[in-house]
Amino acid sequence: MAAPALALDLYTPLEDEACDTRIRAAKARLKGRAVILGHHYQRQEVYRHADLTGDSLRLSRLASQVDAEYIVFCGVHFMAEVADILSRPEQKVILPDLAAGCSMADMANLAKVETAWRELSTVLEPDQDVTPITYINSAADLKAFCGRHGGIVCTSTNARGILDWAFKQREKVLFFPDQHLGRWSGYQLGIPLEEMAVWDFNQPMGGLTPQQIRKARILLWNGFCSVHQMFRPQHIDSFRKKYPEARVICHPECTFDVCLKSDYVGSTEFIQSTVHAAEPGSRWLVGTELNLVNRLHEEVKHKNISVHFMSPMVCMCSTMFRIDPQHFAWVLENLVEDNVVNRIKVLEADAIQAKTALQRMLDISGTPQPANP
Ligand code: 13P
Ligand code: SF4
Repeated sequence: MAAPALALDLYTPLEDEACDTRIRAAKARLKGRAVILGHHYQRQEVYRHADLTGDSLRLSRLASQVDAEYIVFCGVHFMAEVADILSRPEQKVILPDLAAGCSMADMANLAKVETAWRELSTVLEPDQDVTPITYINSAADLKAFCGRHGGIVCTSTNARGILDWAFKQREKVLFFPDQHLGRWSGYQLGIPLEEMAVWDFNQPMGGLTPQQIRKARILLWNGFCSVHQMFRPQHIDSFRKKYPEARVICHPECTFDVCLKSDYVGSTEFIQSTVHAAEPGSRWLVGTELNLVNRLHEEVKHKNISVHFMSPMVCMCSTMFRIDPQHFAWVLENLVEDNVVNRIKVLEADAIQAKTALQRMLDISGTPQPANP
């Protein structure tokens, strides 16, 4: 029988170094029973313990392939939900801090998306005319919505290819929650900006007229990532003035103007691998979360590659940052005692339909990495 769960209060006063030692010891005792998946935005004190790392697409695939009894997800809530949906039923997914959410994912919810679908039906036949696409940064019930309405999930790696697939199914797309990823991917596919309309989820009919809805090929939910809004075209301009030979790389959650001024646009995995593969002596301005950029700087400095953060402000993903060594040590030591704390379990009905939308994505992914058109 499992011992009573160890309380989090015992861990919050611990120093990071003490947690580090305890995390290593707990991992050793768990041997192959637990696998640690870590997203690239995790702070280094946590990231260094990950068995496998990646962007959202890679981590989704890994979650469907690993054998361990426990999947400890060092990332945010929607990532752990995807891991639960794609792993086997007997595997258990654990998120060290349940408050590690994603503010962008929270900008869309089922009630608002269903309202949008109903409102669209006053102008169109949504189930014949519109493919819903949800960015993976969304709750499981929205993925389920896409599953039951002929839609699909996308990530920052494959959004252009997914959009292409969607247009082969139906004439229009409702893309949520990130307007910037939707706009950039549509632009890459050659859709004119005039054929994309922003759906303001706080207004009736998304704030659009029936004529605007009929004209739009992509309806862009007006969600965004507050971290990636901190990067501005002016940051790129002043950097280029100082270092004309430097290259600029950013995540597609950045605004359209920032993507347009960048040399490369892609997922966190793409950013990592591109800078790692760069020639010695090159200089890079990077527009994505600070923990990734700091780590990248450390990893490539021995090759004399310079990595600069795009914003003069410190912008971190505060929700990713909630996964700290204290919570991490707490969940692992509980697993050693056979106590599962902070399990993420998606409702069966949502999981089945969400898996349909995720599986469609996994089946058609493999689109080449994006660069500026
Ligand atoms: P990636 O899939 O590129 O890792 O992005 C996830 C994310 O949340 C970026 O803000
Ligand atoms: Fe969500 Fe933005 Fe954090 Fe990514 S960086 S997890 S989109 S809040």
